[in-house]
Amino acid sequence: MKVDLYEKIWMWLAAGMIAAFLGAITFAAGSQAIRPPSHLETIDPATVYDAPGFSAPGLVEEPDGRLVVSVVAEMFLFDPDEIRVPARRPITVRITATDVIHGFDVVGTNANAMVVPGYVTEFTLSFEPGEYLIACHEYCGLLHHDMQGVLIAEEETS
Ligand code: CUA
Repeated sequence: MKVDLYEKIWMWLAAGMIAAFLGAITFAAGSQAIRPPSHLETIDPATVYDAPGFSAPGLVEEPDGRLVVSVVAEMFLFDPDEIRVPARRPITVRITATDVIHGFDVVGTNANAMVVPGYVTEFTLSFEPGEYLIACHEYCGLLHHDMQGVLIAEEETS
């Protein structure tokens, strides 16, 4: 059987691409493992509600004026499932999960994060006034589609 030169080139090119892709996955799995895209802060998923900052999830104004919303994600809800924040102010959202991987997507905004048990996901964002659906976008079980909340960004009156 005669293999054409171009055929050979394409075969090796295709094999090389597969090797490169598998290598990238192996490298990412080995060096990064699975963790949230934000930063490395660990938390015991079994005792989330005893952890400082998560014992009473919701909006808190820190002594330095920072607005911090802590959220717990678990099958199949967000606690709290209604978050009210002042509009156009930096809001730091801190989320963790008690059971499996969930997602935290504030639909129509740039808030979109993975929530991994054992880790705290954090991001800071400000929201235009409005009411936004919060959706879990990582399949987490039978009622995944029911896992939702609402974020309401309100104009400050004063
Ligand atoms: Cu939680 Cu899907």
